[in-house]
Amino acid sequence: MWKGRDVINILDFSRNDLEVLFEKADYMRKNQYRLKNELSDIIIGLAFFEPSTRTRMSFETAAKRLGAETVGFVSEEATSIAKGESFSDTIRMLDSYVDLIVVRHKYEGAALLASNIAEKPIINAGDGKSHHPTQAMLDLYTTKTLFNTIDGLTFAFIGDLKYSRTVSSLIFGLTAFNPKEIILISPSSLRLREEIRLVAEERGLRLREEENIEAISDADVIYVTRIQKERFPDLQEYERVRGSYRINKELLDKYAKDDAKVLHALPRIDELSRDIDDTKFQAYFTQARLGIPIRMALLSLVLKGE
Ligand code: CP
Repeated sequence: MWKGRDVINILDFSRNDLEVLFEKADYMRKNQYRLKNELSDIIIGLAFFEPSTRTRMSFETAAKRLGAETVGFVSEEATSIAKGESFSDTIRMLDSYVDLIVVRHKYEGAALLASNIAEKPIINAGDGKSHHPTQAMLDLYTTKTLFNTIDGLTFAFIGDLKYSRTVSSLIFGLTAFNPKEIILISPSSLRLREEIRLVAEERGLRLREEENIEAISDADVIYVTRIQKERFPDLQEYERVRGSYRINKELLDKYAKDDAKVLHALPRIDELSRDIDDTKFQAYFTQARLGIPIRMALLSLVLKGE
């Protein structure tokens, strides 16, 4: 079911697919990530046309933990695209060199286009404001690890719900499960896009929009997002909303459930105060750490099967 698949959009994956992935990630953790023989005959291409810290480094670490080698680049400037080569030719070259390609790009649809060009599996590591399926898989796995379930939980998404691909991908991922409710808290100009809302509701999610931060009081998972400055077509629009929300310890102490957990895909700017870092609410560093087993599991399943 997993072998040879492209990973472009989390909606392509069933609950059963995701549960197989989580079990495999548990196996990676149980073995303390020492599985050097799993992919020792494999070379993975990391094609990062847009900046990344966590996604690129966790894929690279995951590959190396499984014994695979990696080749790739971290910006267009470091490739012949800077000399005028096309995206298509770059992917075609890499496809002839490696066994699987991880692609990040600022343009929506870039990973899907790559999957139409390449014969080898493509993993979407984020395309514009559209999709970030491996982040969503990691966010679901983090939730399951923390709460031992995803069903029945209430999720509050806070911030830039319009441009954040981690939000739309996680909402899509949640449609495979049965969460109790999704609360959407944002400035009015950064509301969830209608096309995302329609898909989520058609697939049975219960969504509630709020502008007041007190609405976090119902949430088990409080998912905070950075305002995605790089996605705004008009920087004046960004200036109007920057700094419009900030989650800190005082606010959590006042409104959050005792056992609520704060997730954030990171990087953070000023929307998530550092005074949460050493509290019971902080789960974003756990989340970042779980990027290794989930990406090890993903590489192993796509390249070798179940
Ligand atoms: N979470 C995430 O996608 O982070 P990076 O942009 O650092 O990869």
